[in-house]
Amino acid sequence: MAERLRLVWASHPTQAAAFGEDVRAGLGAPRKTLPSKYFYDAIGSALFETITLLPEYYPTRTEAEILREYGGEIVRSLGNPIEFLELGGGSAAKTRLLIDEALRAQGDLHYAAIDVSAEALRLSARALVQTYPRLRVTAYAADYFAVLGTPDIRLEGRALALFMGSNIGNYEPPEAVRLLRSLHASLRGGDGLLVGADLKKDRETLERAYDDPTGVTAAFDKNLLARINRELGGTFDLRDFKHVAVYDEARGCVDSFLEALRAHDVLIADLALCARFLRGERIHTESSYKFTIGDIERIGAEAGFRLARTWTDAGKRFGVSLLLWE
Ligand code: AVJ
Repeated sequence: MAERLRLVWASHPTQAAAFGEDVRAGLGAPRKTLPSKYFYDAIGSALFETITLLPEYYPTRTEAEILREYGGEIVRSLGNPIEFLELGGGSAAKTRLLIDEALRAQGDLHYAAIDVSAEALRLSARALVQTYPRLRVTAYAADYFAVLGTPDIRLEGRALALFMGSNIGNYEPPEAVRLLRSLHASLRGGDGLLVGADLKKDRETLERAYDDPTGVTAAFDKNLLARINRELGGTFDLRDFKHVAVYDEARGCVDSFLEALRAHDVLIADLALCARFLRGERIHTESSYKFTIGDIERIGAEAGFRLARTWTDAGKRFGVSLLLWE
């Protein structure tokens, strides 16, 4: 079993320092902001898994519906055999639908995954080799940019890269292009990229998906402050903030914020930092961009990929697009 699983870790000191420096920069900016990639510690990953079960958060189950319906067609669309390179697979629940189909098509499979959430990645990688005797897993616990395009990523055969779950929506558009470009640098002719993207739709549906009445999304958002308390000696009182989600139709983006309910100061001991909040002041915590199929085609083209095909669910809420390396 062990020989089918390879875990590659970015060194911890670097990661802890990066978190501190990003918090210092974000809370020191005139418009406060924190990078959404830090949501996913063990607690945040568990809260996100809970979000995917909420009736209001449709993207996960809609994407799963598409993969159940068209997964066989998708994994056969480049010819076989292929291997997978997944960015941010999380619990890999949806990836299993594609792994099942790939094993059906070709018998053996190499699955490489890069995820910032080291805990979630380790758990899912171990579970995958346990479930599938014909699967080899290479798991990189790292920021995508730290490994993509470097010799660390060794792909052996034809690859289908997976960037699912509308994770692409967390990037500002120029950054999304940069990320796809560095992914392009790790791939070759004949390879493909499968992108799952949440499609533009009415404001009510979107804002409810990002501010559910159960309060799980609010807890997920506030965990970022709790993580600063745990890891950097912060003094955030989570009751001093409320979660807000607003769809900015012009940008096609749901923005998440934590809004201070009163004026107060927060100390972050490890950074020797005092962050001052006005009543009503917001920390921007996440951008969740929404797309048309044309948007995906354009972003892909800017990174050197050609859109071959998009599969959608019956309600046209979500799209899974196959982009080909050119
Ligand atoms: C996993 C990044 C795609 O933006 O929809 C869910 C994360 N944030 N609810 C998203 C999230 C709030 C999610 N992604």
